[in-house]
Amino acid sequence: MVDIILDPAELEGWVAELREGKKYRSLSLPDSTLQDLILQELPRHKSKADAMQAVRKKLHNLVAPYLGDPDYQQAEIDLRDAFQSGSRERVLEICLQLLESHASTRERIPFMEDFYRQLFTYTGKPQVILDLACGLNPFAIPWMNLDAGVQYHAFDIHQPRVQLINSFLQGWGCQPLASQQDILVEPPRIHADAAFFFKEAHRFEQRQHGCNRAFWQALDVKFLLVSLPTRNLTGQHSLLERQRSLVHNTLKGLDWKVEELIFQDEMVFCIQPGVKGER
Ligand SMILES: C[S@@+](CC[C@H](N)C(=O)[O-])C[C@H]1O[C@@H](n2cnc3c(N)ncnc32)[C@H](O)[C@@H]1O
Repeated sequence: MVDIILDPAELEGWVAELREGKKYRSLSLPDSTLQDLILQELPRHKSKADAMQAVRKKLHNLVAPYLGDPDYQQAEIDLRDAFQSGSRERVLEICLQLLESHASTRERIPFMEDFYRQLFTYTGKPQVILDLACGLNPFAIPWMNLDAGVQYHAFDIHQPRVQLINSFLQGWGCQPLASQQDILVEPPRIHADAAFFFKEAHRFEQRQHGCNRAFWQALDVKFLLVSLPTRNLTGQHSLLERQRSLVHNTLKGLDWKVEELIFQDEMVFCIQPGVKGER
């Protein structure tokens, strides 16, 4: 196959076309994400048109609009009013509505208190947390029973989500530590007690086969909590063995300690990077 060459101006043109297109304009996606998708796809295709089509498909999977979104502007107003009114009940009501609006968090609501209780029984109560590819999960903070002063670093590529999360963190009394960052292109280097990487590792594999290994190795965390769904979106097929293979293939030869916690439709691999496991 002949390599397709894009000069820097053409690459910038492609990035701008994707960033400013009707579908993604409001998300202000990072240029680094768009560049990475283009540069990953180019060598795999015979023509520029095929490559661009493949990039659009990858972007659709990455942004996953089908998982759901709230009305971000309305949520900003509702949260601001709730914090101003001083009603904790109203703040929790809005958090629940936000968790409901996205499939990943909606599925976790029925067991989320038990979920975090069990995770922190295993890891100890974290003081510094990374929520990697966080989606709307930071709105579960009221059910995490964290200590005051916790540093909650949340990362997502979706700018309206990041902005809303920072408004919430500030109102809730935490530092606004949510960042718009592509964690695959630029893995966070912050030293943390626990990193949450929930329901995204299988999607990372679709973006770039095998990329989880270098990503997990780049993190500086005591516990890496990787969760994966145990059922597909229609709820029909058990994915337990497939998810175990993903994690064990990713860690092949590393000999890191891994323990599993299984909840209703989600399993968590509690990984201790650098700590030898018994296998
Ligand atoms: C399937 S949702 C999972 C949300 C959350 N982790 C949970 O389980 O509730 C995936 C989220 O990851 C974000 N995302 C995908 N790839 C990312 C990347 N490379 N860097 C940062 N965020 C990413 C998406 O924008 C989306 O909000």
